[in-house]
Amino acid sequence: MAAETKTAGTKTGSGIAMRGAGYYSAHTTGAKTVIDAATELVLEAGRDIKLDNPETAFGIADYGCADGGTSIDLHRAVIADIRRREPGRPISLTYTDLPGNDFSALFKRLQGQLPMDPIGLSNFDRLFPMASGTSFYRQIVPSGTLAVGFSATAMHWMSTLPSRITGHVHSVGAKGAEYDAFRAQSLKDWETILLHRAAELRPGGWLVMANFCVDEQGHYLGHTGGVCMFDQYERHWRGLFETGAITRTEYDRATFQQHYRTPEECAAPFRDPNSAVSRAGLELVRSFTRVTPCPYATAFQRDSDPAGFAKSYIPTLRSWSESTFFGALDPARPLDERQSLIDRYYDSYEADVAARPEGHGMDYVHCFMQIRKRRDA
Ligand SMILES: C[S@@+](CC[C@H](N)C(=O)[O-])C[C@H]1O[C@@H](n2cnc3c(N)ncnc32)[C@H](O)[C@@H]1O
Repeated sequence: MAAETKTAGTKTGSGIAMRGAGYYSAHTTGAKTVIDAATELVLEAGRDIKLDNPETAFGIADYGCADGGTSIDLHRAVIADIRRREPGRPISLTYTDLPGNDFSALFKRLQGQLPMDPIGLSNFDRLFPMASGTSFYRQIVPSGTLAVGFSATAMHWMSTLPSRITGHVHSVGAKGAEYDAFRAQSLKDWETILLHRAAELRPGGWLVMANFCVDEQGHYLGHTGGVCMFDQYERHWRGLFETGAITRTEYDRATFQQHYRTPEECAAPFRDPNSAVSRAGLELVRSFTRVTPCPYATAFQRDSDPAGFAKSYIPTLRSWSESTFFGALDPARPLDERQSLIDRYYDSYEADVAARPEGHGMDYVHCFMQIRKRRDA
C-alpha cells in the first residue's frame, strides 16, 4: 500500500485522532465487543427514563464516537427499545468527538451510505441524529436535556499533556513526579467530565461508560500477562532514534496524552458526599472491570499463522496510536518523509510480531460504570 494511502485521514499535529475514512471501525473489532457488552447497561438505563410530555425528545449522547461504526448496533438496539415502549417518542442522538474527527465518515454511516451498512440509522422516523465537534471537557448539550449519555474507550484521552515521560511513551511507564503529574491531571479531568455531564443530564438521567483502566490485578490495555504493548511502542520508537532516523527531540516528544485511572479513582468522587460531583447529583449505581481478549491474538492461537497475525494486529494498534507518533515528528520534514518514517515504525513492529508472536496482544481492560443523576437534583 502506498505511504500516502496508509496515513490518509490522520489529523496531523493534533496528537489525538483515530484514522479516518472508516479505518478506525474496520480495524477495531475489540472495541465493538466492548460496546456490545455495555449494551444491556444502556438498555436498562433507558427503561428507567420517564418523560411526561410526549413531545419531549429522549436525548442520547455518544461521547468520543470516532466514525460511529463500533456503537451503531448499540444505538439501533436502544432506539428500537424506546420505540417498542413509545412508538411516537422523538429521539435526539448527539454524536460527539474532537473537531478533527472524520465526521464525514460518521454522517455517511448514519445515512446508510457506506457499503458495509446500507441502512445506518436511516430507517428510524422521528430520530434526530446530529454531531458536535466539541470536547467532552466542555458542556456539549443544553442543561437538563440528556436522558442517557454513553461513552466507550475515550475518556483516557486527557485535556492536556501534563509532562513528557523520560524513556517511555505512556504514563504506564512513567515514574515519580512525571507519573504524579499524569495522575493529578487525570483526576482533575475526570471531575470536569462528570460535572459537565451532570449539567447536561435531566434529573433521573443516566450515564453509561466503559473507560480504560488499570484493574485490580494491575492489568491495562495490552498488558495482561504477556508482552507489554506500550513497552513495544517505546522500543520500536527508540529503534528509529538509535539508527539515526529520528532526532532525540522527536524521540522525546512521542507521548500519549492518556492516563488510565483505577476503578477506585473512578469511584472516589461518588464516595465523598461533599464532592462537587455528589453535590451535582450524580450517584454511582454499578461499577465493574472487564477484560476483553484481543481478537487478533485469539485468532492467532487458533490459526498459528504468525505473519497473518502481525498483519491484522498492527493496524488495530495503528488506528489510534499513529497520530501520537506522527505528531512527534518535526513538521519541517516533508510530509512524505514523515509518512515513510511512520510506515517504517509500524513495519518494524509488525516484523517483530511476525518473528516472535508469542505473548503479543491488545487485551482491553475496562471499568464499566452506570451513573445516575438523582431525580431531586
Ligand atoms: C479509541 S476511540 C473510541 C471510539 C468509540 N467510542 C469506540 O469505543 O470504539 C476514542 C475517541 O475519543 C475521541 N476523543 C479523545 N479526546 C476527546 C475529547 N476531549 N472530546 C471528545 N472526544 C475525544 C477521539 O478523537 C476518538 O475518536
